[in-house]
Order: sequence, then C-alpha cells, then structure tokens
Amino acid sequence: MEAKPVFQPNKEFAKNARIKNMDEYNALQNRAINDYEGFWGDAAKEKLDWIEPFTNVLDESKAPFVKWFDGGKLNVAVQCIDRHLDTRKNKAAIIFEGDRGDVQTITYLDLYKNVNRFANLLKEDFGVKKGDRVVIYMPMIPEAAYAMLACARIGAIHSIVFGGFSSEALKDRIEDAEAKVVITADGAYRKTKPYMLKPVVDAALEGKTPVKKVLVVERNNEEVTWKAGRDYSYNELIKGKSAVCEAEVMDSEDPLFLLYTSGSTGKPKGVQHNSAGYILWAQMTMEWVFDVKENDTFWCTADVGWITGHTYIVYGPLAMGATTVMFEGVITYPDAGRPWAMVENHRINQFYTAPTAIRVLHKMGEDEPAKYDISSLKVLGTVGEPIDPPAWKWYYEEVGQSKCAIVDTYWQTETGGHIVSPLPGATPIKPACATLPLPGIMAEILDPATGDKAEVGETGYMCITKPWPSQIRGVWGDEERYVKSYYGDVVKDGKAVYFTGDGARYDEDGYITITGRTDDVINVSGHRMGTAEVEAAIKKHSNVAEVAVVGKPHELKGEGIFAYIVLKSDDGVADEVEEVKTINNIIKKEIGNIAICDDMVFAPGLPKTRSGKIMRRILRSIAKGEEITQDISTLEDPSVVAKIEAMVKG
Ligand code: WT7
Repeated sequence: MEAKPVFQPNKEFAKNARIKNMDEYNALQNRAINDYEGFWGDAAKEKLDWIEPFTNVLDESKAPFVKWFDGGKLNVAVQCIDRHLDTRKNKAAIIFEGDRGDVQTITYLDLYKNVNRFANLLKEDFGVKKGDRVVIYMPMIPEAAYAMLACARIGAIHSIVFGGFSSEALKDRIEDAEAKVVITADGAYRKTKPYMLKPVVDAALEGKTPVKKVLVVERNNEEVTWKAGRDYSYNELIKGKSAVCEAEVMDSEDPLFLLYTSGSTGKPKGVQHNSAGYILWAQMTMEWVFDVKENDTFWCTADVGWITGHTYIVYGPLAMGATTVMFEGVITYPDAGRPWAMVENHRINQFYTAPTAIRVLHKMGEDEPAKYDISSLKVLGTVGEPIDPPAWKWYYEEVGQSKCAIVDTYWQTETGGHIVSPLPGATPIKPACATLPLPGIMAEILDPATGDKAEVGETGYMCITKPWPSQIRGVWGDEERYVKSYYGDVVKDGKAVYFTGDGARYDEDGYITITGRTDDVINVSGHRMGTAEVEAAIKKHSNVAEVAVVGKPHELKGEGIFAYIVLKSDDGVADEVEEVKTINNIIKKEIGNIAICDDMVFAPGLPKTRSGKIMRRILRSIAKGEEITQDISTLEDPSVVAKIEAMVKG
C-alpha cells in the first residue's frame, strides 16, 4: 500500500472549531467508550428541548430492536423551528434558489408560519392524524421542506419518494406504506424548461390505491388534470389557514419518517427513523462535521428525496438553527460555474456534494471556480461513494483553495447521519479517506469469519458494534427483514452486530478507507440501486428469458449498470438497437431514468453453477475487462464464459 499524503487542519480554522484537535476528539471518543450511556444521555439533554425528560438512555433488551431516550417527549418540528424563534426569528432558515435564478429567503418566523399553515391544512382538510403515512413526491422547492416539517409537527410519518422515480416505483412505495395522502407539485423547472410530476402521481394512483387525497403545489402552473374529490390545490387551500398549530407531543421513539432504499434482494425496503435519536445526531453531526457557525450559510446539493437531503438540507441545519440553501436547478446549468456563482452570491461557507458531481464539475469546468469569489468557503464535504484521488485533488486545490478541510463523510440511509468522517478542525486528512469514526460511533472493520478487528491493509466488513441514536429502527412492515438485512452476517463476541454492507480497510494510522459494497447493490452516481430490482424490471419484457445485472466502473457515475440478457427467441435479435431501447423504456417505466443500463449484452447463456446459481463475480470481471481468475470448469456450461467475453470485447 502506497502511503497517502496527509493534510493538516487549517490552524486559523481550528482555533474556533467545536472540536479543535485530536486530543479533544480522543477525549470525546474515550468518554463514549467508557461511559456510553453517559455520553449520549448528556448530549440528548444538552442538545434537545424536551417536553418531558427521558427516563432511560438506551434499552437494548430486545436487540437488535432498540429504544433510545425512552419516556422522553418532544416534537421534531419544534426542535427545528419554534425553539429558535426567541433568538433567530428574523434569521434566514432557508435560502431557496430556483432553477431560473429566482431567490427566496425564508426566515425562521416565515418557516414557522408556513409549516403551521401546512400542518393545519393536512389536519383540517385532509384529516391527517398522528401515525398516518404521507408520501411526498416533490421537486426541490421550499414547500417540500414545509411538507416534511408539517408532518413532523402533527406526528404523521412522511415517506419521500425521489422525483426521478417512475409511477411504478412510486406506486410500490405508496402501497407498501399504505399512505393515504400524497403531496406533490404540478411540476417544476429544469434548465429553465418546465417538467411535470403530477401525471406520474396520476399514473401511480390508477386502479386500487390506499390514497384518498392528493395535494398539489402549483409551481410551474402548467396544465394538469384534476380528479374531483381527490386532488386539491395547495395554493388555494392554504389561503386563510391559521399560522398557529399546536405541535403534537411525540414519544422519543415515535416514527418520524420512512425512506425507501435498495437492498441486495427484493423490493426496496422502507427504512424507518424515529424522532429523538435521529434529530439529535442530525444536529450533532452538523455541528461537528461541518462546524457551521451562527452567521454561516450551508449548502448541500442533494435532493430531499435521498437521506442526504433529509438530514443535511432540512433536519440537521434547522435543528441547529443554521441557514440552509435549497437549490431547484441543475449544478451544471447554464454552465459548470453555477455552483461557484451561487457560492459567491450567497457567501456560502460549507459546500456538500457527491463525488459524481465533483467529477462532472471538474471535467466540464476545471477553471470555473477561479472565476468567482469563493473565498467564503471553509469546509467542503463529499458523500455517497468513494471519491477518486484526482477528483479529490481538484476539489481540495481549486474549490478549497488548499485551505478548506474536505470531510469525506461515510454513512448510509440506515445510519441517519454520518458515522465515519474527518472533523475539519481536528483530523489530519488523506485524499479519498473517510478517516475515523465520529465520537460516539463504535464503527469497526471486522473480519466476517472471526468477528475480530481486521488487520491493517486487509479488507474486512464495515460494522457498528453498538446501537447508536440515529440508527434504523426497522424495515416498515417487515421485522424479519430488518434483522436479516443488517444483523445476519457478522458476529462479534457472540453478539450479532450491525453490518453496513460495505467493505473497508484500515491503514497504518488506523484510518478507514471504504472499498465499496460487498453485496449486490450498485452505487450509481451516489445512489443505491439493487441489481435484483433492475433485473425484475428487465424481466417484464416478454422476450427476456434470463438476466443478470452487475456494476461496472464508470468514469463519471462511479458505477454504471451492466446487464447480461438472454432472450427467449433462439435466433437472437433482429435489431439490437431497438431491443436496447425497448428494454430501457421498460426500466424507465418500472424504476426511473437512474436505473437505465449503460451496457447491455445479449448473451447466449449465463455462467451458472450446476445448482443453477448465477456466477456474478465472473460477470463482473467480464464487464470490467478483467482476466477471469475463478475456476470455471465446474460450471454447468463453461463455454458460455468465452462466448460472453468475446461479445463484450467485440
Ligand atoms: C452507501 C449508502 C450516505 C448518503 C448518501 C447515500 C456508499 C456513502 C460514502 C463515502 C465511500 C460511501 C456506501 C454506503 N457511501 N458515503 N464517503 N465513501 N462510500 O446513501 O443511498 O443509503 O447509500 O453509499 O456504499 O453503504 P445510501
């Protein structure tokens, strides 16, 4: 292993950072190791406003089903809004920049009123009650944040479905959660042109559906169809709603939201996050990892349809009383200078994005950052996939002007917030390295065979050996799947521990480098895609006999989707180009554009063991153009390997 260069924290920055050096980091982590409940109990008392105090910090008696801060009562919307009004009512809570450059500044007092009106609408006009599921299918507009917080205020459980998902994907998620309300928009703008969402909702609700009412925010005012008695205009109903709405008193462990994410098998699972633990860690990681100060402006470029948007556009920034930027548009439009123009314009201090975006911005606009005054930047973040050293270097030197810390934040939908990340004022950083567990998080790389800590340089399984407050509480409607998905693979000291699904290794300094998924999950542009889901979509095509999908390294997306398809008709395809189009259209309809295949090969068969198991490892190697090192002699038909290889190379 070649030693990576080390970059020390900026000294000036460190002076005022919340965690100023490694001694402070170590002191915090040692406290957590020696007095876990004391560490978390103190944090929860200090950071959250409790209506009633909790009586117990952690209840592990039914592990892996855990309870944090039991007996405590609070409301997450109050944590994010009401408690800031005394000192920050005129401070910007959200700075919204529309696709076409329209800017809207929403103060904490505005947010309070807008969320309360929204909450009253949901209660009075739609009959939404505590515990009801509400699906949110929205563009990146302030009303998406109002909708989330309005649900939190009245105790409804929101489930956001990313606006890029198709009607079928939306339908699945609506049905699984048995949602009775959908909140959507007519559409929004992309590259100055209107695009539509409401027709997708209409299609998702065709036939039998649990949904009784649909609320439509009119954003682009394009024509949509209205179903009488079901569809209502937000812009109309919100008029005259009271700006006062009493917050529902919630238990610490009442569910806050569901967010569907891909697993290695089957349909996406509804990851459930609960109230107190989630909001606590959202706030603590905002404070520690981004070190946002009172007058700072924080911009996370994610979409609220992903966990990054939940935790670091809405809940985390607002819980700490920060100013969060919300952007409707495309970061490369009108050109690759757009983010830097926004940094200059809003004096953004922390910028958080995905490696895919960094690679694209680098490729399309290497010299763009230098054209703007981006001197306000202090901390840069990356998330979602491993970042490659060239992209890291450009980000550090050109965007960070060699003075900003880069926080390579490793986490996942299930962890609620960051788990392994540098601290900008304390941790010496190395390119493309998530470094160390955050204080309070017992993240360890384990050898799956023994449960022992992995040796330096050996790839092991990235695990978390103790429950933590913002962890997944369950898979909606499927207790068994929760246990099987996360607590099945690694046992340490006789106890099943949480396994992330990722491989990782330690370097000589004990730093953690994430090496990628160990399961059949692909990471496309920082978004999780289950191979089983893509395969199920492709199988909907009547001419497909068999299919296997694998990931393949992709210059910009990190990973692309590679499909091996065996057709039913023996004589192959008359028109391959047409067939590829047909199949991709099915994928678009079943899942959405993000699942479209980068490569498709019409194979004569798939490499299988005699018991019929598809050998994905071989298919991955072929997709990458690697030499096949596995023994193929025991395959049912070893000759298909050479045939497929020839086709892929051809
Ligand atoms: C998977 C989680 C976390 C929010 C966005 C994605 C990969 C995430 C990193 C990182 C290397 C990373 C992992 C993880 N991942 N962050 N800093 N370095 N890999 O959330 O859709 O739940 O995906 O993204 O493979 O398991 P998600």
